[in-house]
Amino acid sequence: MSRQPVIIDCDPGHDDAIAILLALSHPQLEVKAITTVHGNQTLPKVTDNALRLLTAIGRTDIPVAAGCARPLVAAPVTAPEIHGESGLDGPNMPEPAFRPLDEHAVNTIIRILRTSDRKVTLIPTGPLTNIAAALLKAPDIMTNIEHIYLMGGAIHEGNKTPVAEFNIYVDPHAAKVVFTSGLPITMIGLDVTHQARMGEEEIARLRAMDRPVAHLVADLITFFMGTYRRVFGFDYAPLHDAVAVAQAIAPGIVATRRLHVDVETTSPLTFGQTIVDLYGVTGREPNANVGFRLDRDAFLEMLMAAIATY
Ligand code: BDR
Ligand code: CA
Repeated sequence: MSRQPVIIDCDPGHDDAIAILLALSHPQLEVKAITTVHGNQTLPKVTDNALRLLTAIGRTDIPVAAGCARPLVAAPVTAPEIHGESGLDGPNMPEPAFRPLDEHAVNTIIRILRTSDRKVTLIPTGPLTNIAAALLKAPDIMTNIEHIYLMGGAIHEGNKTPVAEFNIYVDPHAAKVVFTSGLPITMIGLDVTHQARMGEEEIARLRAMDRPVAHLVADLITFFMGTYRRVFGFDYAPLHDAVAVAQAIAPGIVATRRLHVDVETTSPLTFGQTIVDLYGVTGREPNANVGFRLDRDAFLEMLMAAIATY
C-alpha cells in the first residue's frame, strides 16, 4: 500500500513542530508540503520556524510554502504569551538552510490537489485561512481531498475566550467555509487535545534517549509547559496539533461522534466558538466527526516511537 499523501497547514508553534516531526517520521504518511499560515506568530516568523525545524532534522527536501498573512475578515491575532516572540521560543534552532517555495501556499495546496494521483489528506493545525482560501479559489480541488483532520474548536471549552479555541477564534470566517464545505472533516478540539498531556515524566524519557531531536522536543515541551503553567495553571503541556496527525495515522486513536458543527462569527461574547450539536437539537445533518476521547497511552507510544526514529 502506498503512503497517504498529506499536506500539513500550520503555524509553528511548539505543538505544530512536534506534529510535523510525527508526520515526517511515520511510514504511512507522505508529506507533500508544509504550508504556513499566520497564527501563533506572524507569517514570516512561523515560516522561518518551519524552515528552521526542517533544517534541524535534515529534511530540507520537504517543500515549504508561505500562505495567508492575515485572516479573511477579522483583525490578525498572535499568541506570544503561549509560544514566545519567535513563535518557537525555547530550543536553539539553526538558521534555515533553505528557502520557501516561490509560490503562495494557497496555490501550492491547489496545485498538489489537482495533480495528485491519489486523494490528499489535509491536516490543518493553525487558523483555517489557507484552506478556506484554496476551497474558495478552486472548488474543483474538493473531489481530490481524502479527509481534513483539523486541530481546532472545542465542544465544551475555550482557551482564547471562555468558549473559543485559538485556531477557530483567529479566523472563524475561514472555519465556517471549511465546516460548511461538505468535505469529510474530523475535528480534534480542546476536549481531546487537553488529554494529550506531556509533563516531567515524558521530558525525562526524551532526555534519556539522548539524541539531538529528542532533546529538541524536550526543550519544546519544557517551554510550552512553562507557558501553560503560567497562563492556564496546567502542570503539563497539551500537544494539541500532534493529535490531529495521530488521528490521520491511526483513525480511532481518538474516539469520535458524527455531529453537526457550526461556527459563531458575529456575537462579541462567543466570537469564534464552535457550536457542536451534541443531541441533534437543530435537526441539521452531521458535518464532522467530533473527537471526544484520546487513547493517551497509544498516542504517547506513537509519539515516543516517532521521536526515537530521529
Ligand atoms: C492551538 O492553538 C495554538 O496555540 C496551538 O499551536 C494549537 O494549534 C490550540 O488551541
Ligand atoms: Ca498550531
